[in-house]
Amino acid sequence: MSAMLEEIQEQPAALEGTFRAERKPMARLRNLAKQRHFRLILLVARGTSDNAARLGRYLLELTTRTPVSLVAPSLYTLYHEKIDLRDTLLVGLSQSGESPDVNMVLESARKRGAFTIGITNEPDSPMTRLPHEVFFIGGGKQRSVAATKTYTGQLLILYMMASALGSGVSMKAVSRIPALAAEALKVKAKVKYLAEHYRKINRMVVLARGFNYGNAYELALKLEETCYVVGKGFSTADFLHGPIAVVEKDFPVILFAPPGRAFQEMSKMAGRLNKYGALTLAITGPGQRMPRRTHTIHLPTSVDELYSPIPYIVPGQLFAAYLAEVKGLDPDHPRALKLVTRTI
Ligand code: AGP
Repeated sequence: MSAMLEEIQEQPAALEGTFRAERKPMARLRNLAKQRHFRLILLVARGTSDNAARLGRYLLELTTRTPVSLVAPSLYTLYHEKIDLRDTLLVGLSQSGESPDVNMVLESARKRGAFTIGITNEPDSPMTRLPHEVFFIGGGKQRSVAATKTYTGQLLILYMMASALGSGVSMKAVSRIPALAAEALKVKAKVKYLAEHYRKINRMVVLARGFNYGNAYELALKLEETCYVVGKGFSTADFLHGPIAVVEKDFPVILFAPPGRAFQEMSKMAGRLNKYGALTLAITGPGQRMPRRTHTIHLPTSVDELYSPIPYIVPGQLFAAYLAEVKGLDPDHPRALKLVTRTI
């Protein structure tokens, strides 16, 4: 079994451990939020960590009602712009804690007046020494180059941060996420069976809307690095503005369609894609009906849309791992990739 598959299955235990370990440290953030008013929240990350940040943007903006944006690291690393970061909370995410550009932004932002936070899986990494505050994913060593448990660990920390900084995310609901991830693993056999049918694909689009937007990017990235499938993630809204033109007969598309506010739009999109002859696969809730000809993966347990990203990425991760397997590829050691990527 690949380390990627092992790590996907370690997620419920890893998430449980993260929740228990970081609950107390989160109280410091809760206190800070009482003392300081941030006018802006910024997130900085690369790769999978950046996809986690995409959900972080939604969660933090929703709960704090403060604008949240993703940083353009090159403004700091290439152009050395002196950006005014007073009254700003800046969060850097790096599974390895070693991405030099993310660390450089953290260092520079602290000097420019931001309150800085790091989220990492590596307690001895450079990232732990740079920001004012650090939260740990605590997922155990990442053995596969393809990140899975560290992604969901980052998402869990972001939920906890959102709860500490404002209202709208309940810690009680967050505490149930590890069990939801365990439930999501029950779709393993169905995903393995479906992956067989996608053996020959070399391109794929992944669509989502709202809270699962980051998952669309993350699954697309997993398909690229583990299966060498050119993957593109889109919000369904953006997809309608041009990229939909690439769809033709048998074009493979995965849709994240949890029940909730975004569901109608996802279902409508699946119906439209089916009319064009696309090969659609929807990850959706228990018993949820999708338009005719849509392949479906039904998660066994209902979950509020707000808390759906962690359980919903699990079938996506499994799909990438099994597709790599049927293609005869090693998802743990993708060609041209290492665990740490240095871009400066
Ligand atoms: C994840 O599957 C990738 N291998 C890659 O995108 C990785 O997430 C990225 O290099 C970021 O690294 P970091 O989180 O350690 O900074």
